[in-house]
Amino acid sequence: MSSAELVVGDFVADRYRIVRPLAHGGMARVYFAEDVRLERPVVVKYGVGLEAPYLRREARVLANLDDVLIPPVFDVGDVGAEGAFLVMPWIPADNLRDVIATTGPWSALDAAELGLALARAVAHVHARGIVHCDLKPSNVLVRDDPARRIALVDFGVADNVEPPITRLARTGKILGTPCFLPPENLRGGVPTKRTDVYGLGACLYYALSGVPPVEPREQLAELLVAVMEGRVVPLRARRPGMPAELADLVHRALSPDPEARFADAIELAEALRKVHHRLRLTHGSVVASR
Ligand SMILES: Nc1ncnc2c1ncn2[C@@H]1O[C@H](COP(=O)(O)OP(=O)(O)OP(=O)(O)O)[C@@H](O)[C@H]1O
Ligand SMILES: [Mg+2]
Repeated sequence: MSSAELVVGDFVADRYRIVRPLAHGGMARVYFAEDVRLERPVVVKYGVGLEAPYLRREARVLANLDDVLIPPVFDVGDVGAEGAFLVMPWIPADNLRDVIATTGPWSALDAAELGLALARAVAHVHARGIVHCDLKPSNVLVRDDPARRIALVDFGVADNVEPPITRLARTGKILGTPCFLPPENLRGGVPTKRTDVYGLGACLYYALSGVPPVEPREQLAELLVAVMEGRVVPLRARRPGMPAELADLVHRALSPDPEARFADAIELAEALRKVHHRLRLTHGSVVASR
């Protein structure tokens, strides 16, 4: 029987010393740790029981990606009979959810720049025939480095586009977060690249407004209905100074009808690149849109 938690000072695979917990997500526990062999900081993700296959799959997905905006897998293995672990580089950065909680909503230009980096990372994932399936602010780390503005993490529920990998056992939890999931996935549809386009739109919406496209409700049923019906408050109602072409792009990505969205992150990145370019020319030093 493997323990559900690791504690400070524990060693994983005789090599990774747990230093402190970072997060307790839906599918795994995440720790800051030290790789004592190579003497470098790392992140250890750990899960037991039904969570373990998701971690192994996350490791396989990461092993097939190669992008400067996506932290790679360093190591993967078992802990006892029921546990699994994954090791990746530690990124000294906060996630977008925590950043926005501190800074408040961003300017159109800053949000477009972040969205562009995120769209490029997801475009790489799509080009490899994979969908991330869980794009949301807590899965995007925001870096200071302009050449690597973001790090995209949490491929725990990522899947092949065609053919989808055999479905893993359900853990009884909703895979993904309803506030950031498109209607077709709440209905149980197979995730597609358009799922990620919606998630990209949701991250941009969050950066620009500080709230998810569909805000949490007290009753889960109410939230699900609001998502299904695409009840997204227009960005320009929340922020009247918002450039229309950026707001339009975000709302297109968030269309309840998948066919009305961009086909994939590559198409969205191309549209966003043009908007970002024009924003730089016209809003470069304007703070009014903040
Ligand atoms: N490589 C990393 N470097 C630094 N921080 C990280 C790293 N990976 C994850 N984190 C932090 O840990 C948090 C949880 O990580 P992750 O999303 O991978 O776990 P999870 O259990 O799948 O989460 P959830 O189910 O809540 O989405 C992230 O929001 C981020 O703040
Ligand atoms: Mg996560």
